[in-house]
Amino acid sequence: MTDANPAASQPLRSSQWYGPDDRNGYIHRAWMRRGVPGDAFGRPQIAIADTASDLTPCNAHLTEVSRSVADGVIAAGGVPLHLPVMSLGETNVRPTAMLWRNLAAMSIEEMLRANPIDGVVLLGGCDKTIPALLMAAASVDLPAVVVPGGPMLTGTFRGRPLGCGTDVWRLSEEVRAGTLTAAEFTRSESAMIRSRGHCNTMGTASTMGLLAEALGMVLPGLAGTPAPDSRLLVGAHATGRLAVELVAADRRPSGVLTRASFANAIVALAALGGSTNAVVHLLAVAGRLGVDLRLEDFDALGSRVPCLVDLQPAGRFLMEDLHRAGGLAAVLTEICDLLDPAALTVTGRTLVDELDAARAAIFDPEVIRPRTDPLVAEGGIAVLHGNLCPTGAVIKPAAASPSLLQHRGRAVVFDSIEDAHARIDDPDLEVDADSVLVLRGCGPRGYPGMPEVANLPLPRKLLATGVRDMVRVCDGRMSGTAYGTVVLHVTPEAAAGGPLALVRTGDPVVLDVPGRRLDVDLPATELAARSPAAASVAAYARPTRGWEQLYVEHVQQADRGADLDFLVGSSGSAVVRESH
Ligand code: FES
Ligand code: MG
Repeated sequence: MTDANPAASQPLRSSQWYGPDDRNGYIHRAWMRRGVPGDAFGRPQIAIADTASDLTPCNAHLTEVSRSVADGVIAAGGVPLHLPVMSLGETNVRPTAMLWRNLAAMSIEEMLRANPIDGVVLLGGCDKTIPALLMAAASVDLPAVVVPGGPMLTGTFRGRPLGCGTDVWRLSEEVRAGTLTAAEFTRSESAMIRSRGHCNTMGTASTMGLLAEALGMVLPGLAGTPAPDSRLLVGAHATGRLAVELVAADRRPSGVLTRASFANAIVALAALGGSTNAVVHLLAVAGRLGVDLRLEDFDALGSRVPCLVDLQPAGRFLMEDLHRAGGLAAVLTEICDLLDPAALTVTGRTLVDELDAARAAIFDPEVIRPRTDPLVAEGGIAVLHGNLCPTGAVIKPAAASPSLLQHRGRAVVFDSIEDAHARIDDPDLEVDADSVLVLRGCGPRGYPGMPEVANLPLPRKLLATGVRDMVRVCDGRMSGTAYGTVVLHVTPEAAAGGPLALVRTGDPVVLDVPGRRLDVDLPATELAARSPAAASVAAYARPTRGWEQLYVEHVQQADRGADLDFLVGSSGSAVVRESH
């Protein structure tokens, strides 16, 4: 057996399967011969964890990408192994893809550990796929690198570019307001999804692809490359080569994903105007590594960072424009002094050194604003506390209406999303532009899975008068493509005993984003005397078997990343027992 891994001082992990000259070694090798040369078993075995699926259209092209990765692995002397893994299509999966993120992470983690592999290339795109892959890789801690599948190209409808997601919300509100016909709305569907790739707004998929690079887990310069762009395949090939290098250098996620890397991701999240969903995903990944990352860190490290990127939903442009304008490197170079210089990347060099070497420039200052002229002076996530959210809630001020950031209004309470849909357009609903729409029962436990419903539709009668934003408060999430003055991820959620369950229609709710407060203006004695609203309690999920039951019994609150309590931490890659 030849060792094609001269730099490795340790035997390859896969040699535990393929090395022994006994019956078990025979079994492992014989079924994997597949026509490969005899020395293949001494080379680094690189899994290509592929989330391609016809039911995850955003990732459907990844199998083609995996072939470029495989070519790169072979070119560097490794053996590529295509490993289809659980995939989550954000637009298809009910009741919400978030319910299955931890299941995907758990299944991927176990398959990486159980198989004879030395390193892994992680192919993701659609919202939950990169978080699940990162959580899995962190818990196994084998050498790993991400290829983000990239955004789709910009489609236009009636001469106007369409932002995935963001313009669905906008166009559907236009239909509700009577300024767009239902037939025109339907006609815009194929313009919305013009090519393969994930959503082209600064939604969760774009955010997590770019943050994977800011974390150091992507070949520098690759994230944000549009899915149909041949440069994605060039980067995939180079990543395949890099994966073999990672094994030789024994460079693992635990050495890359340090607190310094998470600090950089939080700064990048703000500068990009990224999705609020990144908060739960980054907290969950950090939890897998034992990195002490708290919800409050997002405010402390990121809230005062300028948002430089003028992309929907906070701004005007789309991901193709960001790539053309200089991409992530141009954005991070502009705020390089805010980055932690110690954070390493998969290349073995620091993120800051990689940025220095890239000599990135802003090619379109309309899309990537210079530091001196930001889109929003303070672009990050604000973390609120108060008697409605004792352990925290978040708001993205850059996507909110400035006039509503300090607001007092009367609560209009909905006990479930179905309750909201049934009553929101009722002409007799007692609601005005100053009301605060409260939606509960949408947390990880209550729904279950913490769906993206926090950006409740506005009452039709108010839309008709020109109202386009109202303060909304919810224990669920909001699509990264959505916008509005929405306080979300309220913790504890109503179904976990949070005070949100005690609010009644008519109660005065006070939002003070500059003061970082969200309160119901009632005496503590009054709140303490109340019990959770019966209609709210009746709407909470009560699964009696399977994954949903396991999830509801073990899921942590959003301020802990909504991971399952028993999945927090790492088990490493050791498997001590044989299969036969
Ligand atoms: Fe897949 Fe938006 S639906 S990224
Ligand atoms: Mg989403």
